[in-house]
Amino acid sequence: MNNEIITPDKEFEQKLRPSRFADFTGQDKIRERLELFVQAAKERGDVLDHVLLSGPPGLGKTTLSYILAESMDAHIKCTSGPVIDKPGDLAGLLTSLERGDVLFIDEIHRMQRSVEEYLYSAMEDFVIDIVIDQGPTARSVRLNIQPFTLIGATTRAGMLSAPMRSRFGLVNRLDYYDAATLKIIIKRSAKILGVELDEEGAMEIASRSRGTPRIANNLLRRARDYAQVKADNIVTREIADKALNLLDIDNDGLEEMDKRILSCIIEKFGGGPVGLGSLSVSVGEEADTIEEVYEPYLIQEGFLQRTAQGRMATALAYRKFGLVPPSA
Ligand SMILES: Nc1ncnc2c1ncn2[C@@H]1O[C@H](COP(=O)(O)OP(=O)(O)O)[C@@H](O)[C@H]1O
Ligand SMILES: [Mg+2]
Repeated sequence: MNNEIITPDKEFEQKLRPSRFADFTGQDKIRERLELFVQAAKERGDVLDHVLLSGPPGLGKTTLSYILAESMDAHIKCTSGPVIDKPGDLAGLLTSLERGDVLFIDEIHRMQRSVEEYLYSAMEDFVIDIVIDQGPTARSVRLNIQPFTLIGATTRAGMLSAPMRSRFGLVNRLDYYDAATLKIIIKRSAKILGVELDEEGAMEIASRSRGTPRIANNLLRRARDYAQVKADNIVTREIADKALNLLDIDNDGLEEMDKRILSCIIEKFGGGPVGLGSLSVSVGEEADTIEEVYEPYLIQEGFLQRTAQGRMATALAYRKFGLVPPSA
């Protein structure tokens, strides 16, 4: 996805990506649970059960997958749902796995049905069927593969089919981070990047990062640029504030598109309810992106409500724009 808020930079992201549970801050319950299952599997000499990680972009799904592989002393092979064209593409990957290896499938809800069904026997019984020869002599042969761990990541757990979902032993939903946790993450990143940052500067960035570590790291980088050019290299609250204002990120952490979505519902649709399709056309953003990237945070922060009839702006959203909410 290239339309995630503040386009991520791969190299920079790798540098800041924690590689051990100890460096993974927040999501305490999930972290504890996964650490426990890793330890249990290792003690028994078992392969880790299949893991599903869901949640909005930038919360640490890929990071956790690498940490899981690392802590199981396993290799990790990565692919993503939309790039697997046909079951045959998976066969090559699956047969190349060694015992205990991790197969990471990003955007697993975007996998084709035929590919998904092909995965079932691999996940459950560690067998796959491959077709040998073509034409009249073509036949299907059953092949054993090494027991492996499938880690699926998805921004849309609801779009995963029930049979697929039920094949994961460990299902985890990542939530947005609170500002205090993001502050710790930002301070760690600043140390790695060699950025000078004071407590208030860290808090300012943390509270305007939409609860998302990826955004927090990106904003830290922008604040560093600002400090370098306009101040003496130290990210203070004032410098962070100026840098974020320059990026059109407001005090609630909302950016341009968030505000466009809210004001559109209020101004063009009388506060709602409005269907996702109409909203998408009005704001000029894909429905999927609105649903996966923007909406979850607006809902969590209480600006938006999802009803059976469609999306509605809340009283908080009206007040944000200095408007009086309609009486109920
Ligand atoms: N819990 C965390 N602690 C520290 N950094 C994190 C954490 N979660 C995510 N990050 C940072 O945010 C970036 C994005 O995380 P990533 O795992 O790629 O998110 P996702 O796969 O859910 O979109 C990573 O590069 C990492 O630096
Ligand atoms: Mg990812």
